[in-house]
Amino acid sequence: MLLQDQVAIVTGAGSGIGRAIAMRLAEEGCLVGIFDLNAAGGADTRDAIATAGGRAWSYRVDISQASEIADALAQFTAAAGPVDVLVNNAGWDRAMPFLKTDFALWQRIVAINLYGPLHMHHAILPGMAERKRGKVINVASDAGRVGSSGEAVYAACKGGIIAFTKTMAREMARSNIQLNALCPGPTDTPLLADFAGEGESGRKLVAALEAAIPMRRLGKPDDYPGLVAFLASSDSDYITGQVISVSGGLTMAG
Ligand SMILES: NC(=O)c1ccc[n+]([C@@H]2O[C@H](COP(=O)([O-])OP(=O)(O)OC[C@H]3O[C@@H](n4cnc5c(N)ncnc54)[C@H](O)[C@@H]3O)[C@@H](O)[C@H]2O)c1
Repeated sequence: MLLQDQVAIVTGAGSGIGRAIAMRLAEEGCLVGIFDLNAAGGADTRDAIATAGGRAWSYRVDISQASEIADALAQFTAAAGPVDVLVNNAGWDRAMPFLKTDFALWQRIVAINLYGPLHMHHAILPGMAERKRGKVINVASDAGRVGSSGEAVYAACKGGIIAFTKTMAREMARSNIQLNALCPGPTDTPLLADFAGEGESGRKLVAALEAAIPMRRLGKPDDYPGLVAFLASSDSDYITGQVISVSGGLTMAG
Protein backbone atom coordinates (compact mmCIF):
# COMPACT_ATOMS: atom_id res chain seq x y z
CA MET A 1 0.00 0.00 0.00
CA LEU A 2 1.19 3.45 -1.00
CA LEU A 3 0.30 5.23 2.25
CA GLN A 4 0.53 2.58 4.98
CA ASP A 5 -0.29 4.06 8.43
CA GLN A 6 -0.28 7.67 7.19
CA VAL A 7 -2.77 9.91 8.99
CA ALA A 8 -4.98 11.90 6.63
CA ILE A 9 -7.82 14.40 6.99
CA VAL A 10 -10.30 14.90 4.16
CA THR A 11 -12.78 17.75 4.54
CA GLY A 12 -16.18 17.35 2.90
CA ALA A 13 -15.70 13.58 2.69
CA GLY A 14 -19.38 12.94 3.42
CA SER A 15 -20.27 13.23 -0.27
CA GLY A 16 -19.08 13.29 -3.88
CA ILE A 17 -15.40 13.80 -4.64
CA GLY A 18 -14.33 13.91 -0.97
CA ARG A 19 -15.95 10.55 -0.23
CA ALA A 20 -14.15 8.92 -3.19
CA ILE A 21 -10.83 10.43 -2.02
CA ALA A 22 -11.35 9.27 1.58
CA MET A 23 -12.20 5.73 0.44
CA ARG A 24 -9.05 5.54 -1.71
CA LEU A 25 -6.73 6.95 0.96
CA ALA A 26 -8.09 4.34 3.38
CA GLU A 27 -7.50 1.62 0.75
CA GLU A 28 -3.90 2.82 0.44
CA GLY A 29 -3.44 2.32 4.19
CA CYS A 30 -4.30 5.75 5.65
CA LEU A 31 -6.07 6.36 8.92
CA VAL A 32 -8.68 8.83 7.68
CA GLY A 33 -10.35 11.70 9.53
CA ILE A 34 -13.55 12.90 7.89
CA PHE A 35 -14.41 16.53 8.67
CA ASP A 36 -17.84 17.36 7.26
CA LEU A 37 -20.73 19.63 8.16
CA ASN A 38 -23.04 16.81 7.12
CA ALA A 39 -22.67 14.39 10.04
CA ALA A 40 -24.81 11.67 8.43
CA GLY A 41 -22.85 11.76 5.16
CA GLY A 42 -19.56 11.68 7.07
CA ALA A 43 -20.72 8.71 9.14
CA ASP A 44 -21.79 6.87 5.95
CA THR A 45 -18.30 7.34 4.49
CA ARG A 46 -16.69 6.22 7.75
CA ASP A 47 -18.87 3.07 7.79
CA ALA A 48 -18.14 2.33 4.11
CA ILE A 49 -14.41 2.55 4.85
CA ALA A 50 -14.77 0.25 7.87
CA THR A 51 -16.80 -2.25 5.82
CA ALA A 52 -14.01 -2.28 3.21
CA GLY A 53 -11.50 -3.08 5.99
CA GLY A 54 -10.11 0.45 6.45
CA ARG A 55 -9.81 2.80 9.42
CA ALA A 56 -11.74 6.08 9.62
CA TRP A 57 -13.16 8.55 12.13
CA SER A 58 -15.91 11.03 11.32
CA TYR A 59 -16.51 14.45 12.91
CA ARG A 60 -19.23 17.01 12.33
CA VAL A 61 -17.19 20.12 11.56
CA ASP A 62 -18.06 23.44 9.97
CA ILE A 63 -14.69 24.37 8.46
CA SER A 64 -15.59 28.05 8.56
CA GLN A 65 -15.36 27.83 12.39
CA ALA A 66 -11.78 27.55 13.68
CA SER A 67 -12.94 26.34 17.12
CA GLU A 68 -14.85 23.39 15.60
CA ILE A 69 -11.75 22.41 13.63
CA ALA A 70 -9.59 22.59 16.77
CA ASP A 71 -11.99 20.37 18.76
CA ALA A 72 -12.23 17.71 16.04
CA LEU A 73 -8.48 17.82 15.36
CA ALA A 74 -7.71 17.20 19.05
CA GLN A 75 -10.04 14.18 19.08
CA PHE A 76 -8.74 12.79 15.79
CA THR A 77 -5.04 13.12 16.59
CA ALA A 78 -5.61 11.54 20.03
CA ALA A 79 -7.11 8.53 18.23
CA ALA A 80 -4.96 8.32 15.09
CA GLY A 81 -1.77 10.35 15.67
CA PRO A 82 -0.33 13.50 14.07
CA VAL A 83 -1.56 14.45 10.62
CA ASP A 84 0.61 13.60 7.58
CA VAL A 85 -1.84 14.43 4.80
CA LEU A 86 -4.45 17.18 4.53
CA VAL A 87 -6.99 17.20 1.71
CA ASN A 88 -9.03 20.41 1.67
CA ASN A 89 -12.00 19.31 -0.38
CA ALA A 90 -15.14 20.75 1.25
CA GLY A 91 -16.79 23.40 -0.89
CA TRP A 92 -20.12 24.99 -1.61
CA ASP A 93 -21.75 27.39 -4.05
CA ARG A 94 -25.10 28.79 -5.11
CA ALA A 95 -25.08 29.61 -8.82
CA MET A 96 -26.38 33.09 -9.64
CA PRO A 97 -25.30 35.98 -11.90
CA PHE A 98 -22.99 38.16 -9.83
CA LEU A 99 -25.18 41.27 -10.17
CA LYS A 100 -28.05 39.40 -8.50
CA THR A 101 -25.97 38.31 -5.50
CA ASP A 102 -25.78 40.12 -2.18
CA PHE A 103 -23.20 40.55 0.57
CA ALA A 104 -24.72 37.81 2.75
CA LEU A 105 -24.22 35.25 -0.04
CA TRP A 106 -20.65 36.45 -0.68
CA GLN A 107 -19.89 36.03 3.01
CA ARG A 108 -21.19 32.46 3.05
CA ILE A 109 -19.29 31.47 -0.08
CA VAL A 110 -16.04 33.07 1.14
CA ALA A 111 -16.45 31.56 4.63
CA ILE A 112 -16.67 28.01 3.26
CA ASN A 113 -14.42 28.09 0.18
CA LEU A 114 -11.67 30.47 1.34
CA TYR A 115 -11.66 30.93 5.12
CA GLY A 116 -12.45 27.21 5.63
CA PRO A 117 -9.25 25.94 3.97
CA LEU A 118 -7.26 28.79 5.57
CA HIS A 119 -8.43 27.67 9.02
CA MET A 120 -7.48 24.08 8.17
CA HIS A 121 -3.95 25.07 7.11
CA HIS A 122 -3.56 27.23 10.21
CA ALA A 123 -4.59 24.36 12.48
CA ILE A 124 -2.58 21.57 10.85
CA LEU A 125 0.58 22.98 9.24
CA PRO A 126 2.33 23.94 12.50
CA GLY A 127 2.42 20.23 13.47
CA MET A 128 3.65 19.24 10.03
CA ALA A 129 6.37 21.92 10.18
CA GLU A 130 7.50 20.66 13.57
CA ARG A 131 7.82 17.11 12.24
CA LYS A 132 9.33 18.35 8.96
CA ARG A 133 6.93 16.36 6.79
CA GLY A 134 3.52 16.89 5.27
CA LYS A 135 1.40 16.82 2.14
CA VAL A 136 -1.47 19.16 1.38
CA ILE A 137 -3.81 18.73 -1.56
CA ASN A 138 -6.23 21.59 -2.09
CA VAL A 139 -9.27 20.82 -4.21
CA ALA A 140 -9.80 24.08 -6.08
CA SER A 141 -11.68 24.22 -9.41
CA ASP A 142 -11.16 25.06 -13.05
CA ALA A 143 -13.55 27.92 -12.19
CA GLY A 144 -10.59 29.45 -10.35
CA ARG A 145 -8.36 29.17 -13.43
CA VAL A 146 -10.64 30.09 -16.31
CA GLY A 147 -13.81 31.50 -14.68
CA SER A 148 -17.33 30.10 -14.66
CA SER A 149 -20.53 32.04 -15.39
CA GLY A 150 -22.82 32.20 -12.37
CA GLU A 151 -19.97 31.42 -9.99
CA ALA A 152 -18.07 34.70 -9.70
CA VAL A 153 -17.46 34.73 -5.95
CA TYR A 154 -16.85 30.97 -5.78
CA ALA A 155 -14.37 31.32 -8.67
CA ALA A 156 -12.67 34.19 -6.80
CA CYS A 157 -12.27 31.91 -3.77
CA LYS A 158 -10.93 29.03 -5.84
CA GLY A 159 -8.50 31.38 -7.64
CA GLY A 160 -7.52 32.57 -4.17
CA ILE A 161 -6.89 29.01 -3.02
CA ILE A 162 -4.66 28.42 -6.06
CA ALA A 163 -2.56 31.52 -5.24
CA PHE A 164 -2.55 30.57 -1.55
CA THR A 165 -1.34 27.05 -2.40
CA LYS A 166 1.56 28.42 -4.45
CA THR A 167 2.51 30.90 -1.72
CA MET A 168 2.35 28.31 1.05
CA ALA A 169 4.33 25.88 -1.12
CA ARG A 170 7.11 28.49 -1.13
CA GLU A 171 6.80 29.30 2.59
CA MET A 172 6.76 25.65 3.68
CA ALA A 173 9.31 24.18 1.24
CA ARG A 174 12.12 24.17 3.79
CA SER A 175 9.82 22.49 6.31
CA ASN A 176 9.49 19.61 3.81
CA ILE A 177 5.77 20.20 3.29
CA GLN A 178 4.50 19.94 -0.27
CA LEU A 179 1.26 21.65 -1.30
CA ASN A 180 -0.50 21.24 -4.64
CA ALA A 181 -3.89 22.18 -6.05
CA LEU A 182 -6.23 19.87 -7.93
CA CYS A 183 -8.77 21.54 -10.22
CA PRO A 184 -11.76 19.38 -11.10
CA GLY A 185 -13.83 20.21 -14.13
CA PRO A 186 -17.63 19.73 -14.04
CA THR A 187 -18.23 16.54 -12.07
CA ASP A 188 -21.34 14.48 -11.47
CA THR A 189 -21.98 15.18 -7.75
CA PRO A 190 -24.76 16.80 -5.69
CA LEU A 191 -22.91 20.14 -6.03
CA LEU A 192 -23.17 20.06 -9.82
CA ALA A 193 -26.82 18.92 -9.67
CA ASP A 194 -27.49 22.01 -7.53
CA PHE A 195 -25.60 24.24 -9.96
CA ALA A 196 -27.36 22.87 -13.05
CA GLY A 197 -30.82 22.94 -11.47
CA GLU A 198 -33.71 20.57 -12.08
CA GLY A 199 -35.78 19.77 -15.18
CA GLU A 200 -35.19 20.49 -18.85
CA SER A 201 -32.84 23.47 -18.34
CA GLY A 202 -30.61 21.40 -16.01
CA ARG A 203 -30.46 18.55 -18.53
CA LYS A 204 -29.61 21.01 -21.32
CA LEU A 205 -26.80 22.56 -19.29
CA VAL A 206 -25.30 19.14 -18.55
CA ALA A 207 -25.58 18.15 -22.24
CA ALA A 208 -23.83 21.40 -23.24
CA LEU A 209 -21.03 20.73 -20.75
CA GLU A 210 -20.62 17.17 -22.05
CA ALA A 211 -20.45 18.45 -25.63
CA ALA A 212 -17.72 20.96 -24.67
CA ILE A 213 -15.54 18.36 -22.91
CA PRO A 214 -13.15 16.65 -25.36
CA MET A 215 -13.73 13.31 -23.60
CA ARG A 216 -17.50 13.91 -23.94
CA ARG A 217 -18.44 13.10 -20.37
CA LEU A 218 -18.66 14.78 -16.99
CA GLY A 219 -16.07 13.95 -14.37
CA LYS A 220 -16.89 11.24 -11.82
CA PRO A 221 -15.76 11.29 -8.17
CA ASP A 222 -13.48 8.33 -8.95
CA ASP A 223 -11.53 10.39 -11.50
CA TYR A 224 -9.67 12.21 -8.66
CA PRO A 225 -8.48 9.83 -5.91
CA GLY A 226 -5.56 8.40 -7.92
CA LEU A 227 -3.99 11.83 -8.31
CA VAL A 228 -4.61 12.63 -4.64
CA ALA A 229 -2.99 9.35 -3.54
CA PHE A 230 0.04 10.17 -5.72
CA LEU A 231 0.31 13.72 -4.36
CA ALA A 232 0.01 12.36 -0.82
CA SER A 233 2.82 9.85 -1.40
CA SER A 234 6.60 10.12 -1.38
CA ASP A 235 6.53 9.57 -5.17
CA SER A 236 5.63 13.28 -5.44
CA ASP A 237 8.23 14.62 -3.02
CA TYR A 238 9.79 16.98 -5.62
CA ILE A 239 6.42 18.38 -6.77
CA THR A 240 5.07 21.43 -4.97
CA GLY A 241 3.02 24.53 -5.78
CA GLN A 242 1.51 22.94 -8.88
CA VAL A 243 -2.02 23.30 -10.22
CA ILE A 244 -3.40 20.25 -12.02
CA SER A 245 -6.63 20.28 -13.97
CA VAL A 246 -8.56 17.01 -14.10
CA SER A 247 -11.30 17.84 -16.55
CA GLY A 248 -11.36 15.42 -19.50
CA GLY A 249 -9.40 18.04 -21.46
CA LEU A 250 -12.00 20.81 -21.01
CA THR A 251 -9.24 23.25 -20.07
CA MET A 252 -5.60 22.96 -21.05
CA ALA A 253 -2.72 25.20 -20.07
CA GLY A 254 1.00 25.20 -20.78
N1 LIG B 1 -18.77 18.89 -8.74
C1 LIG B 1 -18.13 19.72 -9.53
O1 LIG B 1 -18.51 19.94 -10.70
C2 LIG B 1 -16.88 20.42 -9.04
C3 LIG B 1 -16.11 21.12 -9.99
C4 LIG B 1 -14.97 21.78 -9.57
C5 LIG B 1 -14.60 21.75 -8.23
N2 LIG B 1 -15.36 21.08 -7.33
C6 LIG B 1 -14.92 21.11 -5.93
O2 LIG B 1 -14.78 19.79 -5.46
C7 LIG B 1 -15.00 19.77 -4.05
C8 LIG B 1 -15.99 18.68 -3.71
O3 LIG B 1 -17.23 18.99 -4.32
P1 LIG B 1 -18.36 17.91 -4.67
O4 LIG B 1 -18.77 18.18 -6.05
O5 LIG B 1 -17.93 16.56 -4.26
O6 LIG B 1 -19.54 18.47 -3.74
P2 LIG B 1 -20.56 17.76 -2.73
O7 LIG B 1 -21.60 18.78 -2.47
O8 LIG B 1 -20.93 16.42 -3.23
O9 LIG B 1 -19.66 17.56 -1.43
C9 LIG B 1 -19.19 18.65 -0.69
C10 LIG B 1 -19.09 18.25 0.76
O10 LIG B 1 -18.57 19.38 1.49
C11 LIG B 1 -19.30 19.48 2.69
N3 LIG B 1 -19.29 20.85 3.20
C12 LIG B 1 -19.89 21.95 2.66
N4 LIG B 1 -19.68 23.01 3.45
C13 LIG B 1 -18.94 22.60 4.51
C14 LIG B 1 -18.42 23.24 5.66
N5 LIG B 1 -18.65 24.53 5.89
N6 LIG B 1 -17.69 22.50 6.52
C15 LIG B 1 -17.47 21.18 6.30
N7 LIG B 1 -17.95 20.53 5.23
C16 LIG B 1 -18.68 21.22 4.35
C17 LIG B 1 -20.73 19.07 2.33
O11 LIG B 1 -21.48 18.69 3.47
C18 LIG B 1 -20.46 17.90 1.38
O12 LIG B 1 -20.39 16.66 2.07
C19 LIG B 1 -15.45 21.18 -3.67
O13 LIG B 1 -14.38 21.92 -3.17
C20 LIG B 1 -15.92 21.75 -4.99
O14 LIG B 1 -15.83 23.16 -5.00
C21 LIG B 1 -16.48 20.41 -7.71
